[in-house]
Amino acid sequence: MRALILGLGLALAGCRGATRWETEPKPATAVRGMVVCEHDLATQVGVDVLERGGNAVDAAVATALALAVVLPEAGNLGGGGFAIVATRDGEARALDFRETAPSGASLDAYLAPDGSALAERALRGALSVGVPGSPAGLWELERELGSKRFSFAELAAPAIALASRGFPVDARLADELAEPKLRAALVADPEAAETFYPGGRALEEGDVLRQPALARTLERLASSGPDGFYRGEVAERLVARLSRETPASTLSLSDLEGYRAKWREPLIGWFRGYELVTMPPPSSGGLILLQTLGVLDGFPLDTRRAEVLAEERAAPSADRDPNGLDDRAVHWWIEALRRAFAERAAHVGDPDFVDVPLDRLVGAEWTARARVSIGENAAPTIESLLPAPPEGTQTTHLSVVDALGNAVSLTTTLNSGWGSRLSSDGVLLNNQLDDFALPGVANQFGLVGSAANALQPGKRPLSTMTPTIVRQSDRSVVLVIGGPGGPRIVSSVLGVLLRILVLGQTLDDAVRAPRLHQQWRPPTTDFEAGWSPRLLDGLERRGHAVRRDVEPWGSVQVIQIDRAGEPHGVSDPRRPGGVRATRREP
Ligand code: GLY
Repeated sequence: MRALILGLGLALAGCRGATRWETEPKPATAVRGMVVCEHDLATQVGVDVLERGGNAVDAAVATALALAVVLPEAGNLGGGGFAIVATRDGEARALDFRETAPSGASLDAYLAPDGSALAERALRGALSVGVPGSPAGLWELERELGSKRFSFAELAAPAIALASRGFPVDARLADELAEPKLRAALVADPEAAETFYPGGRALEEGDVLRQPALARTLERLASSGPDGFYRGEVAERLVARLSRETPASTLSLSDLEGYRAKWREPLIGWFRGYELVTMPPPSSGGLILLQTLGVLDGFPLDTRRAEVLAEERAAPSADRDPNGLDDRAVHWWIEALRRAFAERAAHVGDPDFVDVPLDRLVGAEWTARARVSIGENAAPTIESLLPAPPEGTQTTHLSVVDALGNAVSLTTTLNSGWGSRLSSDGVLLNNQLDDFALPGVANQFGLVGSAANALQPGKRPLSTMTPTIVRQSDRSVVLVIGGPGGPRIVSSVLGVLLRILVLGQTLDDAVRAPRLHQQWRPPTTDFEAGWSPRLLDGLERRGHAVRRDVEPWGSVQVIQIDRAGEPHGVSDPRRPGGVRATRREP
């Protein structure tokens, strides 16, 4: 296992700003199991598995399959994702089931004759579709770490029932389906039109959504394993569907047959005495999280907080952040994120194709150089600190703990909402190829990149998904966290962790608290509503470009286990979701 110890990360327990875990040496493992995700029906599926004696992996797989049905725009079989698992015996595992570029994919297909990028091709339609990873990934996760008390078919049964019998459409789905641009795209896809717009009318809140084709595909996966999806009729129809849409589509039967989920060494870092287990490339989320925390660990966040709280006591002001944050501390936070994202753009890509300098990017030297490069004012023009390499919403997350001490943090995505907006056998297909860096243009998230993340056949596009598990030094789990939001995933997860581990906020407050996002390019930092105007004015005086009151983003799904071993879950109030614990005495 790769153990990347962050610069000065081993802060002493019991220091100022200590959380309740730091003052208590050892939480028990969870006394109950818990599932948190973005749809309550899927939450119920996972908790039923735990109550029937399943472990966290069984429950995560059953929940993910249910999300493929009840959250069709995001939870999915036609996309891919990542999972971090912490097992009761202290092991940490990372599963990569990210989509791959088809073996016949060529950058030329995304370029105009003058060499400029045709970004729309990577975002919509057949050329945006990567080889799906979720069917292989969920199967592999269960095969390797499931309890073996259930067959995959048993875990898939609730999802199949939800797809064939149907379930009531909620307000969020109804609102999405009514959106004119999405409607025009989905109505053009014969399957999606029949499923979501029967008789030409968008399903409304309370209508029953039935997905018989998806139920049949799930049944094939359940009975034949990955071959039920990656070979035979389902695979043939998928390839034919894409070729009909765009004759230049290169996604082939051999691409589907050849797809494999991969176990990777998790990234491990330390912050304030806690161990963070998170996703390595081809996600950049874990790397950015560890880099940012490593840089921040060297700034006197606690001292600054104590000073701000003392100022507040001396001269109370509604204008001050109630948790002791001020523009100086938030300036450090923004600049740390900016430097981590600059490295992402320059150096990070699929590690099977490029040599990602992971050890250097989280090593003591990079961390120290990044830290000393942060002065008192914004540095929007900062570049990567490492030499250039040679030339050469929609996502969803679930967090599960079981009473045995196992935990799963799993994020999957179609990329943007409803993916490519093409479907086959009830499966909406991803548009993940937009996550590659096309020359000279930013992707849909405004992210830019380099050769490290250039499109190549068979390569996995760079992600920012950040499934993460925080453990104590004895390897007992204290937090399971992740969420959707493209590059905003890592800033959402980072914000919640900083608020809990540094500011001592409760889980609920930390998730509700307003967020900030900085990703190097563009240099502007986005702020949700709710930040203190005094703090934002102070940042502007330091030269930060501040965008205020940006629409809320992200949907963090998090479980915290307290020192008595009781799990507390929060499903981000920014979107609907569910939190369910197993009964006390099953
Ligand atoms: N498609 C968004 C991500 O993987 O970060």
